[in-house]
Amino acid sequence: MTGSIPLSTPMIEVRRMDFDFGKLDQQDWYRNNPVLTAFMSVLSGTFPPGEQMFIESVRHYKDRVSDPELLAHVADFTRQEAHHTKQHKLANEALESLGWKAQEIERRVEKAIGFFNRKRTPRERLAATVCLEHITAIVAEYVLTHPQQLEGMHPSIKYMMIWHAIEEIEHKSVAFDVYMTTGGKRSTLRRIMKAISVLFPALTVGRTFYLLWAARRMPSWAQTKEAWTMLFGKDGMITCIKAPFKDFYRDDFHPEDHDNRELIERWKAEIEAWKVS
Ligand SMILES: [Fe+2]
Ligand SMILES: [Fe+2]
Repeated sequence: MTGSIPLSTPMIEVRRMDFDFGKLDQQDWYRNNPVLTAFMSVLSGTFPPGEQMFIESVRHYKDRVSDPELLAHVADFTRQEAHHTKQHKLANEALESLGWKAQEIERRVEKAIGFFNRKRTPRERLAATVCLEHITAIVAEYVLTHPQQLEGMHPSIKYMMIWHAIEEIEHKSVAFDVYMTTGGKRSTLRRIMKAISVLFPALTVGRTFYLLWAARRMPSWAQTKEAWTMLFGKDGMITCIKAPFKDFYRDDFHPEDHDNRELIERWKAEIEAWKVS
């Protein structure tokens, strides 16, 4: 271990990407299924204000970090998240023109985060970032280990999700390391994670219903069942992230305990073609 950074931490590479969301021409661009499309549109709408909060809460503690390696990681984490926001905002613009109110989701999430920020301390805001970065990282791991779930998704969104997943895994320990090296307590992390693990899924489901209603899309029974299976089936996302999610509550947990270096190595080549030179 060098300073506070475990040796298993991968390189954090900032990639400038350019996905052509103008080619999104089908309203139900994910398996021709409005539930899946609305769900992914909600996530895309959630990222820009969420990532802004992540950046601000980590940077608030930057001056208390003395490890130069961790400081360099904070800078790369910030740049990666800023690029994610830029691409998701472009995607959300295209989604909005297809009738999916992703930009409305951005505004609603921004308001909710503003409310949270006014009520909570900087330490609790950073703890919330650590919790949400853990959820993002285990979902990213799920996406890259279950590529069949990406089938039937429009390529511009699919490759954006792959790129985003790789980079979330690369920087998954940055907020955690800043939190721990500046004296954060695990008890605060656990308390905040308990609240987030109820609120985040509930709000995401509620917003998915809102998007379906706003787009005047009524899914069939088969489409609803397909979405349910993708979340709660044997290989579903919620089913598969349960175990890595619980690890967060361990006394000695560190995000790099889930070593994904080999996994992201395999995927990097997949997104090379989308990079802006
Ligand atoms: Fe991100
Ligand atoms: Fe992140």
